[in-house]
Amino acid sequence: MALAGIIMAAGQGTRMKSETPKVLHLVCGLPMVEHVGRAMQKAGVNRPVVIVGHGAEKVKESLDSHTYAFATQSEQLGTGHAVLMAKEALASYEGCVLVAPGDTPLLDGEALSSLVAKHRETGALCTVAAFRLSDPTGYGRVITDAMGRPLRIVEQKDCSTEEAKVNLVNSSVYCFDSKTLFALLPRLGTANAQGEYYLTDVLSEIVKMGGVIAVVEYSDPDLFMGVNDRWSLAQAGKIFQTRILRHHALNGVTIVDPSTTFIEADVKIGQDTVIEPMTSLAGATTIGANCVIGPQTKIQSSQIGDNVEVLMSYLKAASMADGSRCGPFAHLRPGAQLGERVKIGNFVEVKKSIIGDGAQVNHLSYIGDATIGTKTNIGAGTITCNYDGFRKHETTIGSYCFVGSNSTLVAPVTLQDGVFIAAGSVITKDVSADALALGRAQQVEKTEWAKRWREKNQS
Ligand code: UD1
Ligand code: CA
Repeated sequence: MALAGIIMAAGQGTRMKSETPKVLHLVCGLPMVEHVGRAMQKAGVNRPVVIVGHGAEKVKESLDSHTYAFATQSEQLGTGHAVLMAKEALASYEGCVLVAPGDTPLLDGEALSSLVAKHRETGALCTVAAFRLSDPTGYGRVITDAMGRPLRIVEQKDCSTEEAKVNLVNSSVYCFDSKTLFALLPRLGTANAQGEYYLTDVLSEIVKMGGVIAVVEYSDPDLFMGVNDRWSLAQAGKIFQTRILRHHALNGVTIVDPSTTFIEADVKIGQDTVIEPMTSLAGATTIGANCVIGPQTKIQSSQIGDNVEVLMSYLKAASMADGSRCGPFAHLRPGAQLGERVKIGNFVEVKKSIIGDGAQVNHLSYIGDATIGTKTNIGAGTITCNYDGFRKHETTIGSYCFVGSNSTLVAPVTLQDGVFIAAGSVITKDVSADALALGRAQQVEKTEWAKRWREKNQS
């Protein structure tokens, strides 16, 4: 069955004290509004309509326009006015429409689905998601009749003393009949304490029409936690992080220390992989099965195969094929592509380079803008000099090469297959297959020179 959705995201969020619009602040790597959008999509909403106002351009740029539709609310006149802005976008739609604020990142698809289910089964014109709080201060109160059916919602600032005692509060998440919603919204007034168009006033209008309003009471208030400042942002992040870690753990991933492990929402991890403490996995990172990642590792937007080991390293937009390993203290920068069983050791930096299957760069090297063939061994301290101060140049190294320690390869330069470079060489010219190249000063020996030197200085 078709389902529409509206996300209210036009407010400023002054208390965030930020240049960034509130709904774009990240929770586990995704903007808050994206979390709400995904929950709606899980519940079956096809293309949620996001109401944008403050920072409208930034919000639109941050969301995929295939996934979301947008409506602009140029002046923030209240939640009732915000939802009315979606009228045109949903003009050809008739049926259930979910409405939610864009700053409730902990909403999930299940909670929305149960709201829609209740709405359909009761034939209500509005179903409101509510919960109970021992201290309801600040929230709109859901006022019910003797049978527990909602009659209206009264905002904190408009509450009588009696109403203020009601502890059933409005989450600001609803399911409406779209036709009723858009027929009633233009009738709302602003005769209230805040002089705003209250979306909540649609409920009393429905009751006046003789329509039914249903309520779903949720036991977990976290689902509707609204983020208003950086501290509540941090708390929402913590709760969402626990959900992510639990998801991976139940999928067969070992999380050694949940309190120091940070995994963003879009990371995928295979079975029997172990995530060691103090590790952070971000962006669209994919990790295969049977890997050991960490401790003290950060991986951003990288692709990791099966049976890979990453120890105390930093990876960004890199890839590591099956059986490869890196660290401790490796830095794989964008475009580092490691083949199968490649070994990258301590204090090695790799940037925009393809490293062939079984090749090794074990100690203290910089490999940039290079291609290295199968099973080549790069000795300790080898540097590709890829930059002349103006341009980047490429280094090509064939298969089965041996580059002696502390060699300097001045790009552009090519070493064909099977080349042997003597340790300490500065290589500026191409080397042909299976040749030995030396590029270093000849060793000179002066017999007994040291002895004479000591005698001269000691006398
Ligand atoms: C709202 C509800 C209240 C509920 C509470 C739960 C109303 C009148 N009240 O109050 O019953 O208990 O949420 O948190 O709806 N927005 C716009 N345009 C506007 C005004 C708001 O897009 O003109 C957006 C805001 O960016 C925000 C959401 O709507 O994401 C809710 O607005 P907010 O002002 O926070 O409503 P509350 O006063 O919290
Ligand atoms: Ca709010």
